[in-house]
Amino acid sequence: MARSRTTHRCTSCGSTTAQWTGRCAGCGEWGTVEVIAAEGRPVASAAAQPLSSFETEASIPSPLGIDELDRVLAGGVVPGSVTLLAGEPGIGKSTLALQAACRVASSGATVLYVAGEEAPEQVASRARRLGPVPPSLLVVTDTDVDAVAALVAETRPQIVVVDSLQSLSTSGVDGAAGALSQLRACTGALVGAAKRHAVSVLAIGHVTKDGAMAGPRVLEHVVDTVLSVEGDRSGTLRFLRALKHRFGPTSEVGLFEMASEGLVGVPDASARFLADRRAGAPGSVAVPIVDGRRSLVVELQALVTAPTAGPTRSVRSLDSGRLDLVTAVLGAHTAVAIGQQSLFASVAGGVRLQDPGADLGLAVALASSIHGAGIPPEVIVFGELGLTGEVRGVPAPVQRLHEAFRCGFRTAIVPASTPDGPTGLRLIRVDDLGTALRWFLPADATA
Ligand code: TYD
Ligand code: MG
Repeated sequence: MARSRTTHRCTSCGSTTAQWTGRCAGCGEWGTVEVIAAEGRPVASAAAQPLSSFETEASIPSPLGIDELDRVLAGGVVPGSVTLLAGEPGIGKSTLALQAACRVASSGATVLYVAGEEAPEQVASRARRLGPVPPSLLVVTDTDVDAVAALVAETRPQIVVVDSLQSLSTSGVDGAAGALSQLRACTGALVGAAKRHAVSVLAIGHVTKDGAMAGPRVLEHVVDTVLSVEGDRSGTLRFLRALKHRFGPTSEVGLFEMASEGLVGVPDASARFLADRRAGAPGSVAVPIVDGRRSLVVELQALVTAPTAGPTRSVRSLDSGRLDLVTAVLGAHTAVAIGQQSLFASVAGGVRLQDPGADLGLAVALASSIHGAGIPPEVIVFGELGLTGEVRGVPAPVQRLHEAFRCGFRTAIVPASTPDGPTGLRLIRVDDLGTALRWFLPADATA
């Protein structure tokens, strides 16, 4: 059967053309033009071929020289790829990108830093604070993406840092820099330049406080990798996660501390979180949590006091819903009475706790505070609590046990299903909250 003559139509404005284009000539949108048949029905594209007949794409990452960053990138950046570094303003994106730029340039490789938000002098003084500034680190303050692409063609850097996507624009598209149409077009242009010249682009994108990645979220499918810098800006701890990664897993987590010399990697996170712990103090419990592929031991703290005005509940770095659940289970299934007292719970060190495996630790911390009974310093606790008071298994139990043992803990109160961990770590398997508490509290407190 003869194929009908094809044409192309923009899904956004509906204008048609004979030739396919990446950008619609009618409305200026990118990636909206699709193939349709002359009579308006889609037609089959080129013949399908066996997948096995294709070569495997070589994607060898080249390290950026910052361990915690390279770990999240599964080795580094792949030539020809675009990595989006997203995060709230002020979280440390420029700092991290500039540190990476300096590291790569220190080997003599050309690195181009496109500074759309700061003058070269400002970038230079920040770079000097971070360490020596290699001569092969070039800076340009152009915000026209086409001029940037031309400069990339001319200077052939190994890495291009774009700070930020929101500062770029192209004359081919309506709207001011930062508008959605501009962000799409500029990112598309950077993707093209990266592929053409086999350079790695590290592009910074600001996200809004409410978590909705206004801007970067819509770019996720255009770029190869999306990294997110997270943390509480009032604290110094920063987490780096891969939200999307075409060249590796997204489960690695990088940890940094914002210091006067920039972002400093924290390879031994548990040691940092436990450093200030008053082991054995009532209300303090060590809990191994998992975050991606990483396990960390954190200190959970609870304080139960007589209310000064009305009873209050206050949480820091954990979800108030978890505290509500744990106190409800404590009240319904154990003799530990909270009554009208005020509750405070927090995770020391600024780690945001999302792991349900910390439930049992939270319950033990509350009971420990109410009874003024400290938990022995060499004990860790983990397990999820169910509404019937049962202690449920959690993901990656053995990984938690190993991290706890490495940090010096020798006894673990764990769900009944937990497999053996390292030799030398005694496991106390419990299947309900009451049993766990009897292990810590005086007999009359849990009767
Ligand atoms: P910055 O990298 O500019 O954030 P972003 O690019 O994400 O907007 O860093 C913001 C904060 O980090 C700023 O308030 C100052 C602080 N900072 C340090 O504490 N130490 C440093 O060495 C640098 C460069 C910045
Ligand atoms: Mg910045």
